[in-house]
Amino acid sequence: MADGFSLNDAVCGSGNPNPQGWPGPWGNPPAGAGGYPGAAYPGTYPGQAPPAAYPGQAPPGAYPSPTAPPAAYPGAGPAGVPAGPLTVPHEMAFPGGVMPRMLITIMGTIKPDAKKLVLDFKRGNDVAFHFNPRFNENNRRVIVCNSNLNNNWGQEERQMIFPFECGKPFKIQVLVESDHFKVAVNDAHLLQYNHRMKNLREINALAVSGDISLNSVTHTMI
Ligand code: GAL
Repeated sequence: MADGFSLNDAVCGSGNPNPQGWPGPWGNPPAGAGGYPGAAYPGTYPGQAPPAAYPGQAPPGAYPSPTAPPAAYPGAGPAGVPAGPLTVPHEMAFPGGVMPRMLITIMGTIKPDAKKLVLDFKRGNDVAFHFNPRFNENNRRVIVCNSNLNNNWGQEERQMIFPFECGKPFKIQVLVESDHFKVAVNDAHLLQYNHRMKNLREINALAVSGDISLNSVTHTMI
């Protein structure tokens, strides 16, 4: 096209990833701006892949692809932990609910023509935390967060910083803290979502859906 904006840009939105600029709606600092020096979260993610597989700020290409599983993913995770490839939608149960210091890690690859990705932390039919990257909402890429109580969506919290790319691998880490969920993507802090469902022990499942191939969903305590 004459202006260099292709249909692929419109669908997969590889254009300006942050049209609003930082700070976002909640003033979260991006990685490297003083908020999270080095890796997003402390330690080397016990229970995840061997540390050598994730040397801190590894570029997205360093993550495993479903077509070429690296040695770190020989088809099974640690004992009792499902590891990919997984069918989508995928649901992981948290029989005791979630709690502060629980770190949930989701790894996969965005499909080339992706429209959305959804994480739903659920309490039965209610959604405590809906994390919904949208690849083309009126030609923009946006992450919509919300909660759903008794089949009613609450007020959306929107984040224009959009670290996902069509066709590329991703790692999402959700750290449960006492007041909020804290989300990092590809080792960079992205956003926080204040708990609306305060009884964390009742949040008993995570549903992962959308236009992705899914390698692993794991959780550990840090
Ligand atoms: C709605 C959408 C839901 C959910 C919600 C979040 O428009 O249909 O799937 O994303 O927004 O507020």
